[in-house]
Amino acid sequence: MSDFVNNFWSNYIAAGTVLSILGCMLLLWLTARKRVPSDADNTTGHVWDEDLREANNPLPMWWIGLFVLTIFFAVGYLVVFPGLGSFSGQANWSTRSEYEEDVAKATKALAPVYASYASMPMEDIAREPKAMAIGERLFMNNCSQCHGSDARGSKGFPNLTDKDWLHGGAPEKIVETITKGRVGVMPPMAVAVGSQDDVKNLANYVLSLSGAPHDSVRAGLGKSKFTVCAACHGIGGVGNQAVGAPNLSDKIWLHGYGEAAIMQMVNAGKHNEMPAQEGRLTEAQIKLLASYVWGFSNPATGP
Ligand code: HEC
Ligand code: HEC
Repeated sequence: MSDFVNNFWSNYIAAGTVLSILGCMLLLWLTARKRVPSDADNTTGHVWDEDLREANNPLPMWWIGLFVLTIFFAVGYLVVFPGLGSFSGQANWSTRSEYEEDVAKATKALAPVYASYASMPMEDIAREPKAMAIGERLFMNNCSQCHGSDARGSKGFPNLTDKDWLHGGAPEKIVETITKGRVGVMPPMAVAVGSQDDVKNLANYVLSLSGAPHDSVRAGLGKSKFTVCAACHGIGGVGNQAVGAPNLSDKIWLHGYGEAAIMQMVNAGKHNEMPAQEGRLTEAQIKLLASYVWGFSNPATGP
């Protein structure tokens, strides 16, 4: 137990445990020894509810036997298993080592399954029902909390089932995304754009790129301001996967749609992160997952 910085708590807990066991023994011994004086009819003289009287019979032997057994069991348990402070027990058992053994066993049992996909192209794995069943479970356990169980994402978390990619949708790009993670950074740009009125004009120009309803006078005024944005989002706002800048000329919005949402992006910027999975998942698992994700936007085209 490395989180104990000194022995105080360990000793405190161990002493408490030993004392309570000794206390049980003492209690048993005292009750066996001491007789409460009783009246001639073997009652203690206490009377409740007018005629309810307390008899003074000794504890039944089976009950004492069980009590003694639990004490022996407790002592035996504390010798074998961890329980006395930081003493790890003779058997050296811990929930962590049990878990690690289970994981190692499962990894070994699954190794031949993954091995059969090692040399297979990811496009083919995506058509393999058994591999996709594994992919689905991996996705549910590791990805669905952010991307949704249907992988359609939500605000800030990209939809993985469409053909709109921030970082690229080729199988090896998806592997790269999952393995190393991704960081999408849009700096606050208001200063570069000008006044809030300029930002509003620019937002209307951005809306015009995808043919969304907009104020065309404002869009016309905002157009020239887009030069600072084009460095990342490309001329015409078509996006740039090298820096993870989204396409602004489609109707897909990661951070919300409309004038206010775009002005918010320009004013405040955004730092968005996909956590790296290397270290959490094996290379083989990542390959299956990437094939599973790729399959969403590249469904089989009939037999
Ligand atoms: C903690 C939340 C979180 C988890 C868990 C997570 N992701 Fe992501 N993922 C994100 C975010 C946020 C982005 C967008 C990054 C950006 O804005 O550049 C992203 C981006 C991606 C992309 C790139 C999409 C594109 O358009 O290029 C892929 C592919 C992806 N995730 C797959 C996965 C897979 C597979 C898993 C499971 C192993 C997973 N993600 C787990 C948050 C998460
Ligand atoms: C340094 C590169 C960079 C510059 C410059 C930049 N952006 Fe971005 N922008 C990004 C990135 C990266 C994202 C995606 C953030 C993420 O991963 O969530 C983004 C996201 C956005 C979004 C959200 C898109 C969506 O789908 O919800 C809007 C709108 C946007 N930018 C508009 C602009 C405008 C307007 C400008 C110019 C004032 C601009 N950006 C300048 C990199 C940039």
